[in-house]
Amino acid sequence: MIDLPSAHPLSARRGSPLSGRIRVPGDKSVSHRALMLGGLAVGRTTITGLLEGEDVLATARAMALMGASIAREDDDASGASVWTVDGVGVGGLAEPAEVLDMGNAGTGARLLMGVVATHPITALFTGDASLRKRPMGRVIDPLSRFGATFLARAGNRLPLALKGAAEPLPVTYRVPVPSAQVKSAVLLAGLNTPGETTVIEPVATRDHTERMLIHFGARLVRRQGDDGADVLVLSGQPELTGGPVRVPGDPSSAAFPLVAALLVPESDLLLEGVGLNPLRTGLFDTLREMGADLEVLNVREEAGEPVGDLRARASALKGVEVPADRAPSMIDEYPILAVAAACAHGTSRFHGLAELRVKESDRLAAIVRGLEACGVEATTEGDTLIVKGQGEAPQGGAVVQVDLDHRIAMAFLVLGMVSVEPVRIDDGRAIETSFPGFVDLMTGLGAHLTTEQETFA
Ligand code: S3P
Repeated sequence: MIDLPSAHPLSARRGSPLSGRIRVPGDKSVSHRALMLGGLAVGRTTITGLLEGEDVLATARAMALMGASIAREDDDASGASVWTVDGVGVGGLAEPAEVLDMGNAGTGARLLMGVVATHPITALFTGDASLRKRPMGRVIDPLSRFGATFLARAGNRLPLALKGAAEPLPVTYRVPVPSAQVKSAVLLAGLNTPGETTVIEPVATRDHTERMLIHFGARLVRRQGDDGADVLVLSGQPELTGGPVRVPGDPSSAAFPLVAALLVPESDLLLEGVGLNPLRTGLFDTLREMGADLEVLNVREEAGEPVGDLRARASALKGVEVPADRAPSMIDEYPILAVAAACAHGTSRFHGLAELRVKESDRLAAIVRGLEACGVEATTEGDTLIVKGQGEAPQGGAVVQVDLDHRIAMAFLVLGMVSVEPVRIDDGRAIETSFPGFVDLMTGLGAHLTTEQETFA
């Protein structure tokens, strides 16, 4: 997202029970990848349900600046938007004449660096104040091994210049942090590299890149290494073939109305067409362990991804302990899970959250600060987050600073929907990165969200 001068505060207070049937916007991870692989394919890719949030639009602009033809067509019969991408073929990207401004999007920036790293072009990357703080060394290191060169700011931060390798060398890389972005950047660099690129992944993370590469016709083999790690072997320079891609609803976005429905008394909400990739569903398992009345219905497969409908009904939740090895399957869901834990009966402990410190904001700090301001006891011990659930509605009545972080913003608005006093966030603009229409959608369900100051008068 661009750094606009004026903030856009939003308040949430108790409203009616949340009921109805909704579709959340398309999956952010799948949307970025669909645009990138569509742009690298031969022929036309038709994408239904693409997330039209700022993060993904930044990727669309960047791919267009490098030669892909990208257009938004009329909505289809179901009302979903349809995007077409006419690709340039693997290795066919042109040097962008402008700086690639990736806005708030870590995924867009890191994956595109992977794509550019093995093209004989130079690209300049930047982003908003949040993205310019985030570490890029984690992709600079493996991508340099292909022969790409980087010139970055201190601490390997954006803005940076990337000169792609003219004659890339295949790489074998063991991913040192559980990160789908790092894995994907390496695989995407491997696309335009002769021979085999190998990624060793000790801790499994979301596999949308692998699924979509196979969907577009790449040869990618997964086996288990001697130490139990996943080994992914991609054969370089395939011909990718464009085709239809249907983007599922984003489970990470579904999490906000879903948890709101569990917390607001008498709610009963159906969320249709939510992505259920097993490497993304840790939150749903955790909520069930907390006692949530959460049903998964009508599971099917669309464009290589499992999809289903979710029904959530208001529930009395209890505290839970979430092990570190579940973190990768719900890494974006801790802000909203912490809100659920704050309303649950008993103490919750979430382990293995070091990666939360390098998200759109330092989410561990933001969660603790926001909960405490709302009268909830929360603390960290190393990489563990501890939230003392009160078994009743938190006090609220605070202004929460969101630091350009969409998930912190939405999580605390949900808290305001149940707390005794309203909760205000200092700036709701970041919500547009992943969940355009969030305020209208929640209001339509019965929530009380407002931009007016007088809620606090
Ligand atoms: C993503 C991977 C995760 C996640 C991000 C999306 C992806 O980041 O937090 O929102 O699409 O690959 P990390 O790779 O940094 O864990």
